[in-house]
Amino acid sequence: MSDPGVGRTRQSAIYRDGVFGKRPTVPTDAGALEARAQAAMSSTAWAYVAGGAGEGATMRANRAAFDRWQVAPRVLHGTTTRDLTTTLLGTTLRAPLLLAPVGAGCLVAPDSDVQIARGAATAGVPYVFSNQGCNPLEETAAAMGDVPWWFQLYWSTDEALVDSLIGRAEAAGAAALVITLDTTMLGWRPQDLNLGSLPFARGLGIAQYTSDPRFRELVASRVAVAAAKVKEKVRPTVGAVRSLIEMSRSHPGDFRANLTSPEPRAAVETFLEIYSNPALSWANLETLRERTRLPVVLKGILHPDDARRAFELGVDAIVVSNHGGRQVDRAIASLDALVSIREAIGRQPVVLFDSGLRTGTDLFVALALGADACLLGRPHIYGLALDGADGVASVVENVMAELDLTMGLTGVGSIPDLVPGLLTRT
Ligand code: FNR
Repeated sequence: MSDPGVGRTRQSAIYRDGVFGKRPTVPTDAGALEARAQAAMSSTAWAYVAGGAGEGATMRANRAAFDRWQVAPRVLHGTTTRDLTTTLLGTTLRAPLLLAPVGAGCLVAPDSDVQIARGAATAGVPYVFSNQGCNPLEETAAAMGDVPWWFQLYWSTDEALVDSLIGRAEAAGAAALVITLDTTMLGWRPQDLNLGSLPFARGLGIAQYTSDPRFRELVASRVAVAAAKVKEKVRPTVGAVRSLIEMSRSHPGDFRANLTSPEPRAAVETFLEIYSNPALSWANLETLRERTRLPVVLKGILHPDDARRAFELGVDAIVVSNHGGRQVDRAIASLDALVSIREAIGRQPVVLFDSGLRTGTDLFVALALGADACLLGRPHIYGLALDGADGVASVVENVMAELDLTMGLTGVGSIPDLVPGLLTRT
């Protein structure tokens, strides 16, 4: 008998368990997944993960863009097996899917990056480690086993820190370097603002920094300068004490020693000052080729002219993304940008996509519209919230199962066969 494929195999396993009264721990549809994750998360975690810029118009636009495309299935095609594999930047992948970089995941679960890495490795998909992760990249890399991983960088105002982070990613075995361009400042995010909650200000999501030798140098000099100044007496509030405890817990080293040390606070202040560079320009990016031997991927491109310029500069790939609607409200939908960018630059350059992708059929649509691979964002964090590393793997397996079934039901045998002609636009 021919291979039934990942879709039928997963379906059968779930239905077989159902006979014994067992239901999936992680819901198989995006709506229930999100609702169950919300119930499992604190209000600050939910605000940070699910929230977006302004009134949420970009997030709605991302979904509405998917709703404008419909699949036009063909029948009697006799396609019985599907090949989901693809080659991306020289590496063969199980499917054209990667996990998007997500910062401050420890709001949702402890050791979030390591857990996500374990889930990604189980499912056999690459994970793009966030520069604002909760575990040093070396620890997360160890959890990936043989599955490739990429490192995402926010370009700091401190150029020596940029080099240090790139060097660590190379040394630990990253397969590509992703530079995120759309977050030179944080967008206006009312859900977090209304709670007065920024994870980094409490020391969460700065593990790549506190584990970095160059960053530690910067912290040490800040501590030295502060020690020389006359101290102003401030009465601590309950909130401030709670934040100090959280900072001391996340900071490397002994918790008790951290409580009385100026270092954790100085680390947070240093991070907030230098983590991104509002002056970032094409001139900075021109220096990249001499600074790394890794393939370079630019994330956060929405305009065809920026896409053209990126490839003129010689980058290896771009990610069409509006950061899941977290940066500019009323931005264009990422899927619409994918279509116009492909029209402008042709089929050849390597283009990845994210923002708004929730299901296997969404993945089918984005691939048919010209994405070479896609990044799965919030859904994998919802899986983490519900069932740790296993939850992450389940979410990925569900998306792949639906992609496989949709391909089988429409007569598509392999990823290169996913073409715009399979879709109609309403
Ligand atoms: C992100 N994203 C992100 N991107 C990045 O380059 N570095 C980062 O540290 C983060 N952090 C982050 C945190 C959280 C909580 C979210 C939800 C997103 C953006 C992410 O990589 C991706 O572009 C979006 O998640 C895609 O949108 P959807 O599909 O999740 O809506």
